[in-house]
Amino acid sequence: MNQLLSVEKLTKRFEGLVANEDVNFSVAEGEIRSVIGPNGAGKTTFISMISGHLRPTEGRIFFRGTDITALKVQQRARLGIIRKFQTPSVFLGLTARENIELAVIAAGTPRGQRQTRLDEVLDLVRMTAFADREASVLSHGQRQWLEIGLLLGAKAQLLLLDEPTAGMTAEETHATGTLIRDLTQRLRLSAIIIEHDINFIRDLQAPITVLHLGKVFCEGSFEEVSSNAHVRNIYLGNE
Ligand SMILES: Nc1ncnc2c1ncn2[C@@H]1O[C@H](COP(=O)(O)OP(=O)(O)OP(=O)(O)O)[C@@H](O)[C@H]1O
Ligand SMILES: [Mg+2]
Repeated sequence: MNQLLSVEKLTKRFEGLVANEDVNFSVAEGEIRSVIGPNGAGKTTFISMISGHLRPTEGRIFFRGTDITALKVQQRARLGIIRKFQTPSVFLGLTARENIELAVIAAGTPRGQRQTRLDEVLDLVRMTAFADREASVLSHGQRQWLEIGLLLGAKAQLLLLDEPTAGMTAEETHATGTLIRDLTQRLRLSAIIIEHDINFIRDLQAPITVLHLGKVFCEGSFEEVSSNAHVRNIYLGNE
């Protein structure tokens, strides 16, 4: 697999606090990677440095082999590094279709290709049947999928998802896992997903990185990580 993104010795300090320290990590094309860890472990800080919302104190970030550490959020977004925030940023007064259309236009899609792209994205996020509903009447889960549709409309190559299933029902959470796996396979997208929902993480079947006190504590499959006594201890606050 070709490497899409890699980070080397990524460190972020806020005044005296070390939020990330010497983090090495990579994600290949078409690969999903999960990042877990207790509250305050540094997960959101990590994603913010990749998206460009935070500047690392030390370390470097490479995308397709090019050093992008100095690039701004918008420059990274043009390369396809796109982050979904926890609170959906969809326009509630517009329909699902209109919302995605805006993302497709903003991504510079040529006029002649817009309609095809729009229909494709609606289908990918399973929103074709709801395309003409106003976002305000969609369920919480549907709004989150619409937001993933906006990322696709914006030509994401690497999805950065911070707790995408927060507030979802068990059924919506499960459907979101299936959706993300389907997208990464069909479009060969990569994704870095932060989650607290352990059932969701198990179902994703992606390699897991455990962050603790800003550092990579361990990495492995769900079976490896969940059977690790040290990992259980950090969640219980014993390490
Ligand atoms: N802008 C900031 N200024 C100062 N400290 C910050 C800032 N952002 C995060 N921190 C601190 O850095 C540490 C890591 O925070 P971060 O939000 O990355 O953790 P997290 O793993 O995402 O936690 P959670 O699971 O609660 O979302 C925390 O101690 C937090 O208080
Ligand atoms: Mg967080």
